[in-house]
Amino acid sequence: MLTVCDLTVSVGPETAPVDIVAGVSFGLAKGEILGLVGESGCGKSMTSLAVMGLLPQPGPRVRAGRVLLEGCDVTQLQPWQRVEAGHGRMAMIFQEPMTSLNPVRRIGDQIAEAVRVHEGISGAAALVRARELLELVRMPDPKMQLSAYPHQLSGGQRQRVMIAIALACRPQVLVADEPTTALDVTIQVQILGLLRELCNRLDMAILFITHDMGVIAELADRVAVMYAGQIVETASVDALFGAPRHHYTRGLMDCMPSRNSGARRLPTISGQPPLPGSVAAGCVFALRCAAVRDECRVATPPRLEASQGHEVLCAFPLAGGELP
Ligand SMILES: Nc1ncnc2c1ncn2[C@@H]1O[C@H](COP(=O)(O)OP(=O)(O)O)[C@@H](O)[C@H]1O
Ligand SMILES: [Mg+2]
Repeated sequence: MLTVCDLTVSVGPETAPVDIVAGVSFGLAKGEILGLVGESGCGKSMTSLAVMGLLPQPGPRVRAGRVLLEGCDVTQLQPWQRVEAGHGRMAMIFQEPMTSLNPVRRIGDQIAEAVRVHEGISGAAALVRARELLELVRMPDPKMQLSAYPHQLSGGQRQRVMIAIALACRPQVLVADEPTTALDVTIQVQILGLLRELCNRLDMAILFITHDMGVIAELADRVAVMYAGQIVETASVDALFGAPRHHYTRGLMDCMPSRNSGARRLPTISGQPPLPGSVAAGCVFALRCAAVRDECRVATPPRLEASQGHEVLCAFPLAGGELP
């Protein structure tokens, strides 16, 4: 459905670009949820915006690579061309729905507007479709909510509205950038359940972005772990949680509360991700890696295939083998 090849997003002058996303590649199949996980500042949002063709302007730009939606390279198209072409439908939801909703317009009108843009129907017919969309996202009492204003809804309900608006274009791919990060845990679980249900019912692919390994474990089919603009490990959720191979992935897992219920303090990975442009040579994780060797500081790490579909960007990966 979606193939991202060697995507590189850069800032700074053409002559001396600084890569904030450096050669990212991944694929996403129909009905699949791919989790993109990593600490804040690793380039997850820039990757997702580049995939959507929504990078802020002026600013970061796609310097290299391709984003293929059903074989068509969308990096060459303007957003309106994507809509006009009628193919390559992708939609996106964000962390804070309130910033994307118009506070002085009724929910129904805002969803109907998206329906009008994408399906060319308006008036009562668009409102009927808006109500259908609210039912699809399992909004309680959808008929009444059509006439509500955003501030009258809870955070979880607002995110459901954003998902309804995203679904108005019947997307083949939904990109979700930390959509549950601002929500209470119980509401988060409901929204994750909804996304899984929609993925199955609509045969839609989801690129789900989060900094939270717990959310990945709950939701994703496959995972891409991102660090300093690079994907350092890709695997199925089972393979990754069964036996992480990259030292960074292992560090993220050790920080998960559920895995450390006995510990008084959660471990953290010491240090911070490097600033873009500050990694001179070698492995991007070398500065923070507990298992670093001299070679890691000078040589670019190889991308090893630990098992089928499980890749790790490390010269000295963790051993595989069954974990309990
Ligand atoms: N408009 C911009 N101009 C320059 N650098 C930016 C811009 N936006 C983000 N960055 C940098 O790009 C890197 C990746 O950011 P981002 O994709 O937002 O990370 P994440 O979503 O993983 O937290 C960060 O180092 C950030 O400081
Ligand atoms: Mg982000």
